[in-house]
Amino acid sequence: MSPGKSGIHPAVSDRPLSGLRRSRAVLVTGAGGEMGHALIEALAAREGTSVVAMDIRELEPGVREHCENAFVGDVCDAQLLERLLAMYEVDEVFHLAALLSTRGEFAPETAHQVNVVGTLNLLKLAAEQARSHGRPVKFVFPSSIAAYGIPDLDTKRKAGAVKEDQFLEPHTMYGVNKLAGEHLGRYYEGHYRKLAKDRMERPIDFRSIRFPGIISADTLPSGGTSDYGPEMIHAAAQGKPYACFVRRDTRIPFMTMPDAVDAVLRLAAAPKERLTRCVYNVAGFAPTAGDFERLVLERFPKAKVSFQPDAGRQSIVDSWPEDVNDSAARGDWGWSPRHDLETAFDQYLMPRIAARYG
Ligand SMILES: NC(=O)c1ccc[n+]([C@@H]2O[C@H](COP(=O)([O-])OP(=O)(O)OC[C@H]3O[C@@H](n4cnc5c(N)ncnc54)[C@H](O)[C@@H]3O)[C@@H](O)[C@H]2O)c1
Repeated sequence: MSPGKSGIHPAVSDRPLSGLRRSRAVLVTGAGGEMGHALIEALAAREGTSVVAMDIRELEPGVREHCENAFVGDVCDAQLLERLLAMYEVDEVFHLAALLSTRGEFAPETAHQVNVVGTLNLLKLAAEQARSHGRPVKFVFPSSIAAYGIPDLDTKRKAGAVKEDQFLEPHTMYGVNKLAGEHLGRYYEGHYRKLAKDRMERPIDFRSIRFPGIISADTLPSGGTSDYGPEMIHAAAQGKPYACFVRRDTRIPFMTMPDAVDAVLRLAAAPKERLTRCVYNVAGFAPTAGDFERLVLERFPKAKVSFQPDAGRQSIVDSWPEDVNDSAARGDWGWSPRHDLETAFDQYLMPRIAARYG
């Protein structure tokens, strides 16, 4: 099967479904993406976890080898998802598949299909799984600071670190979709089929994190509007000039990929009774684009960074908060990032990027 085409991966397509025993597994959608790479490695190291992966493109062998099985398919393809879930007893879903903010703004209706209809498909099937095995299915959903929409720069600067319930009027389709995903999760957890006589109480245990921009040393970003941070670093490490698409004084929060994966796993492992909300902010560090430039030039003195703001992408980043207040995550499930901006460069990015690009 060619990448991008929906269907069951050749590794399993020939096996009759009736002949398979349902084994317990954790499902990861969007497994081939930046976070999928890192999360699957971490999940595979978790004792007793069997990972079933899904993505619209074929997984790289390094990711595939950590999975019990891998499916090439579209989260909008409800029949495919049904077949997948008929093969496994899934008690945990990490739903990462998404069309990110920049891509979503070029094709908003497609973004809605993937980000909202895809999420709805998975929630519905997860609720059916819960009914069939009689216990809730844990559903972990990475949301984004794109869920926020601050009206203007002055308000953004005055707002500082925003709390989860402020400024929820996103300016992008991606942000609208993420907010919709959060609400759908909350509905499936607490209210699904409210009037049905045979309803199951709380079929879904929904947990979501609003991530800031994530910086990975091992993968290149594509399609996000916070990509200028990681792009600047990867370009400098390769000796390529970089034209930053936002102003030097632009500030939003970021974190490293190891911290993002740690947040996902910590929230997933937290005792339910400790959780006071479905959706949590997490913060790492909140540099300006100029702070990235300064650190990049210190570490790569020959790097060439220029600033050529793109009005559209700038307006998106200007609607996102300068920082987020993550006191709920810290209090409820012990969130604490390992990296600040300096240690992100010196302990995580520099060694791995040097190894990657020689
Ligand atoms: N990377 C960030 O900075 C960041 C920040 C906030 C939130 N997030 C969220 O974290 C999650 C993972 O992000 P990422 O950085 O790994 O993104 P990514 O673009 O690298 O990965 C997304 C994956 O989803 C897959 N996908 C897209 N459409 C699909 C479909 N219809 N069916 C099945 N798979 C499909 C893609 O092929 C890709 O492998 C996303 O939900 C994203 O919104 C990421």
